[in-house]
Amino acid sequence: MIMRCFSCINTPRKRLTYEDQRLFDPDSPSYLYTPDGKEKSPFGPAEQDRNNQNGVDILNSAQSFTFQELAVATRNFKESNLIGEGGFGKVYKGRLDNGQIVATKKLNLEDSLQGNQEFIVEVLMLSLLHHTNLVTLIGYCAEGDQRLLVYEYMPKGSLADHLFECESDKYVLEWNTRVKVAAGAARGLQYLHCVAKPPVIYRDLKSANILLDNEFNPKLSDFGLAKLGPVDDNSHVSTRVMGTYGYCAPEYAMTGKLTVKSDIFSFGVVLLEIVTGKKAFDVSKGQGHQSLAVWSRPYLKDRRKYTELVDSRLRGKFPTRSARHLIAVTSMCLNDEPHRRPSINDIVVALDYLANECVSPQTASSTAKSTPTRFSPLTPEHKVNPRSPLKLFQKDNSPKKIHR
Ligand SMILES: Nc1ncnc2c1ncn2[C@@H]1O[C@H](COP(=O)(O)OP(=O)(O)OP(=O)(O)O)[C@@H](O)[C@H]1O
Ligand SMILES: [Mg+2]
Repeated sequence: MIMRCFSCINTPRKRLTYEDQRLFDPDSPSYLYTPDGKEKSPFGPAEQDRNNQNGVDILNSAQSFTFQELAVATRNFKESNLIGEGGFGKVYKGRLDNGQIVATKKLNLEDSLQGNQEFIVEVLMLSLLHHTNLVTLIGYCAEGDQRLLVYEYMPKGSLADHLFECESDKYVLEWNTRVKVAAGAARGLQYLHCVAKPPVIYRDLKSANILLDNEFNPKLSDFGLAKLGPVDDNSHVSTRVMGTYGYCAPEYAMTGKLTVKSDIFSFGVVLLEIVTGKKAFDVSKGQGHQSLAVWSRPYLKDRRKYTELVDSRLRGKFPTRSARHLIAVTSMCLNDEPHRRPSINDIVVALDYLANECVSPQTASSTAKSTPTRFSPLTPEHKVNPRSPLKLFQKDNSPKKIHR
């Protein structure tokens, strides 16, 4: 079936316009238009200025491809070019005629209704949102029944690939890299929650959607499930419960009320995967052990047990202090009460602090053996800096509260 209303995006090389986006917009017509019908930007003034200053039209960044162009780029979707497969369809590595290497996701049309809606949201979101920790959408194809998305190629695949799909027993993602990935992913989420106006609730935060470049810089991907956050006095948007099992916040699963704090819970589950190297939900495990968030509760409640959570494949090669802090943040994100979960701003400060600590030569060489388990006293900098990670580490940093 040819989607008549999308004829505007079938023209080769035609670029996305405001008019196209209005067509894309699934259920939030007020998003791009003010009450008097004038166009408005989904970004705050700072973001607008930045884009205007650079002379870059952020809305004209996604390119329309013909099916033929993408078939050529992927050598007719050759099996050897297949780099992954998810619920949306297969992902192929390809080379565009300008030489650029890309990842092309080919929509599986079996569930065309939901797939098409997710395709539209993905194109809309990634055409509007630009950040170093979000994957770049290079373009799309909406020719006839075909729906394809063309992304920048992320050479190291997904975080999930590195945590769970290691072919060699010898390969294990080292601690410092895990912290670096966590901090970068948090910055991507911070952009969605705090810079985009209105905020964007990601809804599908999971390790399979955190893609990695050659230096393990993470980028969030898959915005097909993303929702525009509440505006004005509303604290939540009601929506059909969607997402991936194991990552979903309990209150969202029960009520369908979606807030930015639902994403914080999912981020907590990702942190838990990063720390433990275990999957958020593992059907191969017995009852009571399948959900990582449930299984980890006794460990997260007792700080003496924190380091027992750390991936045993690291063989103790991690800085204890860093692990304790990361697990403390994880525990806060997984709080059952959404309002008790930290904001993404606080999480970013805490994780950046840990990531910087990891890259300093002093810490990089430290291991469980060489790192003192007792926390060092607070530096004067901690006391004066209002955005200090102390805010999140407070309990954990206080020597008198450490149980032994
Ligand atoms: N831009 C990209 N660059 C490199 N590899 C990618 C890219 N996008 C996806 N992949 C690879 O393809 C795999 C499948 O991705 P996809 O987003 O289709 O599924 P998923 O996120 O695992 O699950 P689902 O989409 O069903 O929630 C990823 O795990 C990753 O290895
Ligand atoms: Mg994905």
